[in-house]
Amino acid sequence: MILSPKILFKHCYGKYAIAAVNVFTMEQIHGLFSAAEYSNTPFIVQITPAARNYAQAEMLMAMVKAAAKIYPKTVFALHLDHGIEEHVFDAIINNYSSVMIDASHDDFETNVNRTRAVVNKAHPKKIVVEAELGVLSGVEDDMDIDSSKAFYTNPQQAKEFVERTKCDSLAVAVGTSHGAYKFSGANGLQLHILKEIQEQLPNYPLVLHGSSSVNKNDVLEINNYGGKLAENASGVTNDELRAAISYGICKVNIATDIRLSWAKTHRRFFIEQPELFDPVIPGKEYMKACKELLINKFEVLGATGNASLVK
Ligand code: 13P
Repeated sequence: MILSPKILFKHCYGKYAIAAVNVFTMEQIHGLFSAAEYSNTPFIVQITPAARNYAQAEMLMAMVKAAAKIYPKTVFALHLDHGIEEHVFDAIINNYSSVMIDASHDDFETNVNRTRAVVNKAHPKKIVVEAELGVLSGVEDDMDIDSSKAFYTNPQQAKEFVERTKCDSLAVAVGTSHGAYKFSGANGLQLHILKEIQEQLPNYPLVLHGSSSVNKNDVLEINNYGGKLAENASGVTNDELRAAISYGICKVNIATDIRLSWAKTHRRFFIEQPELFDPVIPGKEYMKACKELLINKFEVLGATGNASLVK
């Protein structure tokens, strides 16, 4: 069942968070939907412009619709992640539940104007809008933002931004970054800024991008099987995620963790069985790995068991 993130956020606010998982492939879609059905957990499936570019928007939409039939007990929203107007307007026509307009790299006034224009198009179709204020560093999609150009969200500006744009949720920059190398040289999650944002915007759903945990054992295992990831790669801890939820984070974006799982599964598989070449066998293993990873993630976010309740 597809639900608006508005309903999901109202149900979870202050208690648990909804995992918003970026998908690029059929295996990831199976892993996500089967994890959610197994653990009775509401979730957001999200698609970036790079995913649309890779698999084609129509193909991804068809796979998500098929997954909803194959896993009929799932409760989820379909979201466009990091869109610009071109993708947003296409997603609105194609009945996504929710779109993100990412004008966070523009100056404040331009961000307000671009976001408000999207809200004006989306709201009459009952599609909700996520916007972003503040700039995260790291690599996401085709963007590569170096940490010197990143800046935290200003809590007072956040309030003004939401009042002027009427966006339905706000992604905030509070120290996380996209990709596997979060917190390199930075100070970690800035919970005091998040707290100030919540004080300015009480009961308003906030979004945490760059929320992957970047499990150290996964990084070591990838490297044991020939990978060359920097071993200081690290992410957001479970305790930080739980604290962030208490400060109004309702949506937690996850992409890197399931990518690392892909690299781990396939590197190990082909090193251990170099005579094999059929994509179906490691593909099945990857679906299972994704499922296990996400069951665990839902648990960390306190979301397990809530799908039937939110309905
Ligand atoms: P990670 O790179 O931490 O998984 O974050 C993904 C994200 O924020 C997508 O918008």
